Amino acid sequence: MCGIIAAASSRNVGKLLVRGLHKMEYRGYDSAGIALHQDNSIAHLRAVGKVQLLEDKMIAEKPKSKLGIAHTRWATHGEPSELNAHPHKSKDSVYIVHNGIIENYVELREELIKDGYEFSSQTDSELIAHLLDLYYKETKSMVNAMYKAKEKLDGAYAIAAINIDDNSNLVVARNKSPLLLGIGSDEILAASDPIAIAELTNDFIFLEDGDVAEISAETYKIFDNTKSKANREITHIDISTQATSKGDYRHFMEKEIYEQPEAVSKTVDGRIGGEDVLDNIFGLGSSDIFAKVERVQIVACGTSLHAGRVAANWFSSIAELPCQVDYASEYRYRNPHVDQNSLLITISQSGETADTLAALNYSKERDYLSSLTICNVPTSSLARESDFSLFTNAGPEIGVASTKAFTTQLAGLMLLALSLAKSRGLNPKLRGRIVKALRLLPETIAEALLLKDKMLEIAPNIANKNNALFLGRGIFYPIAKEGALKLKEISYIHAEAYPAGELKHGPLALIDENMPVIALAPESEIAEKLISNLEEVKARGGTLYVMADPSVNMDVKSGSLVHMPKCDFFMTPIVYNIPLQILSYEVALLRGTDIDQPRNLAKSVTVE
Ligand code: AGP
Repeated sequence: MCGIIAAASSRNVGKLLVRGLHKMEYRGYDSAGIALHQDNSIAHLRAVGKVQLLEDKMIAEKPKSKLGIAHTRWATHGEPSELNAHPHKSKDSVYIVHNGIIENYVELREELIKDGYEFSSQTDSELIAHLLDLYYKETKSMVNAMYKAKEKLDGAYAIAAINIDDNSNLVVARNKSPLLLGIGSDEILAASDPIAIAELTNDFIFLEDGDVAEISAETYKIFDNTKSKANREITHIDISTQATSKGDYRHFMEKEIYEQPEAVSKTVDGRIGGEDVLDNIFGLGSSDIFAKVERVQIVACGTSLHAGRVAANWFSSIAELPCQVDYASEYRYRNPHVDQNSLLITISQSGETADTLAALNYSKERDYLSSLTICNVPTSSLARESDFSLFTNAGPEIGVASTKAFTTQLAGLMLLALSLAKSRGLNPKLRGRIVKALRLLPETIAEALLLKDKMLEIAPNIANKNNALFLGRGIFYPIAKEGALKLKEISYIHAEAYPAGELKHGPLALIDENMPVIALAPESEIAEKLISNLEEVKARGGTLYVMADPSVNMDVKSGSLVHMPKCDFFMTPIVYNIPLQILSYEVALLRGTDIDQPRNLAKSVTVE
């Protein structure tokens, strides 16, 4: 959460810093701020609310500067307010921006108060400015001050700092929060996400945990955890501006929903051939390791966890492997027993989710055969810290609600189920059938997107309610959960999901004319039972909206029966999720919520 950006340049940096904040607004959007070095003073502007409000202040005040730092916030310590907004300062001399959490902030704050420092915010970040000021006075070097501060700080941080005494250099540090440098012409930048500076450069250096860097317009020096000079590789990444702008769509979420056929093609292309999945698509040696796997453990959060729950079913039926799925935030606290030859799988769009990273790190102390990540960001911490990986190639996902990331994760997880089955010498005929279905998947998703008109008819009946219930059975239960998550996070309607058979064990009590029920009824052995469950809803006055196989027919009275495109049963969880995404989007649109940046949320959750 939170996005930081910093620039040292031969030109004015105010505009480019604010533009970078706009691009990173998905990381947090409750307040924003900037500090710009102006030789004898530092211009310090902060605003509560979105980055646009900071930009309005910048337009009014027009501060000029070639060295600056800026921040967009997702509040952890202290409410969203101007005083809690970054940058924080110490005695008008040191200014800092911080992404992460300082765990020992209470004791450090007390120590600094004893040293005579005054605090004006409730944040855990302000003390970093005071620590740097204290140690700068002692060492007369911001790099040395940063190293001394690092010795004190426990927790996760990406920090950028400037000092009134130096109008050409800024200092940054990274520990467990993403931070990279951008090498431009006549300027060097630092940011939490390459998207923030992709218009300025394609050359990035991804800092490692423990790194400190000093940056000027002309050059940069990087030092590692031991304070030795470090040579970090420059990575060339071409992030097109098209990928990070909405184009003609009303929201990023809408754009990302309709990008799904192409996104899935990019996940699958080059990874299947003939009637099978290709070898080693998860990295060199992965096929050999897969042959030894006897058990799978998945850890993930939110939507990525739902993808994991669908995949657990595939691992069992295609690769004949037992699989356990845990919330990443819970996994470490249940003292998990690790069987011999277990494979740990993390799933994440961002690759920076703190709980998922913490679970991966915890697993390294346990006896896992290997770790693997299904991730959308090749430069992310999860990608770097896992033994094997498969990148979903979905392109940047900016809307806070995950859509194309989920669909491509499922496609990636299906490739994994096939690879595990292949390495274990299992089910060649079934593998051939699924590979064929994967090739057709983009087309089937495109057909499912055409259900928009039907969703437009249903949306007003959901938008005027306060609750909704999603039902699915078997592999469709996690899809029902994903449907409920999407609806609640962007429309603020309370939504729950149940396996349909559980209805009569309690939730049926909730059913009346104010409880719309959205059910998933694919053709399978479970459809018949699910339909009986839906009759129980109908008998109690509930309105049914059923996404069903064309062969399913039932009287839904005042509700709707939506026939889904025909496809292989293994693809149905992916395809049935599409109208649920559109439905949530259209409901949120009717309710006038902030769809891309729903209240209280942020895209990248880098705190535990
Ligand atoms: C999805 O709509 C959510 N905003 C959220 O649940 C998300 O999937 C979760 O925070 C995990 O993020 P990750 O995939 O980047 O790890």
